[in-house]
Amino acid sequence: MAYQFLTFDVVDRIATITVNRPDKLNALNDATIAELGVAIDEAIARDDVAGVILTGAGRSFVAGADISELASQSPLEAQRRARAGQAIFRRFETSPKPTIAAINGFALGGGCELAMACHLRVANDKAKLGQPEAKLGIVPGYGGTQRLPRLIGRGAALKLLLTGDMIDAAEAYRLGLVDQVTTPEALIDTTRALLTSMIANAPLALAGCIEAVDRGLGVTIEEGCTIESDFFGLLSATADMKEGMRAFLEKRAPMFHGR
Ligand code: COA
Repeated sequence: MAYQFLTFDVVDRIATITVNRPDKLNALNDATIAELGVAIDEAIARDDVAGVILTGAGRSFVAGADISELASQSPLEAQRRARAGQAIFRRFETSPKPTIAAINGFALGGGCELAMACHLRVANDKAKLGQPEAKLGIVPGYGGTQRLPRLIGRGAALKLLLTGDMIDAAEAYRLGLVDQVTTPEALIDTTRALLTSMIANAPLALAGCIEAVDRGLGVTIEEGCTIESDFFGLLSATADMKEGMRAFLEKRAPMFHGR
């Protein structure tokens, strides 16, 4: 489909979704969030896509929700806005195909939340991250209060949320908020290399890992291990499992087909 606020490109089985409002530092207005939902659904549905990179055009990843839209919201509109955005961000998090945020600049507020909804985050060394909502008199509305403590722990999350301070990429890496840091010039190639190494693996195994981790985080260790053993059993029914093990024993690279 044609997007107004995004670009969507597919090269070598990787879809790159680029938020494209550089004059507003890619601030997320409602229309852009809706397009993000369409774009992640397109990436999940397309057979020629195995993984997704999410990035921003220009000097920012995403500098937050569009404050000009938030400024006049009524309480019920705000609740509706948060719930609609949360549902779309959740589709990145539950995508059966790996999603990586390539953080090319500011990832603030909704931008940090969008990056956290992806499976992994690679940042350039000029990137700045933070949850500045308290400075605006609100709390994060797109999952930030929930994903941040799960990623970096309660104390570190509350420090970021309560100060509203921006941190640099090195500090974000130290905290575990980003998984890898590179130069601005190498950001996309580094992210592509990471994703390429993932999508060489069996697609159903990737989907199983993502879903087992996601569902397991919300339950007891016993329930989580049951989820895992169910996937372990299910995947043993796949042709890709037979191919993966046969290829190992025959000392050759596997050819996976996602079935
Ligand atoms: N919503 C709406 N517009 C935004 C925006 C946002 N979250 N973030 C940046 N913009 C706009 C600015 O209003 C400006 O538009 P203009 O040129 O029409 O005036 C443009 O993007 C460039 O931003 P500017 O502030 O001039 O750039 P800067 O380099 O001086 O500062 C930031 C960059 C990121 C520090 C600053 O833009 C900022 O603090 N943004 C808001 C961050 C935030 O609070 N996000 C959470 C929202 S819930």
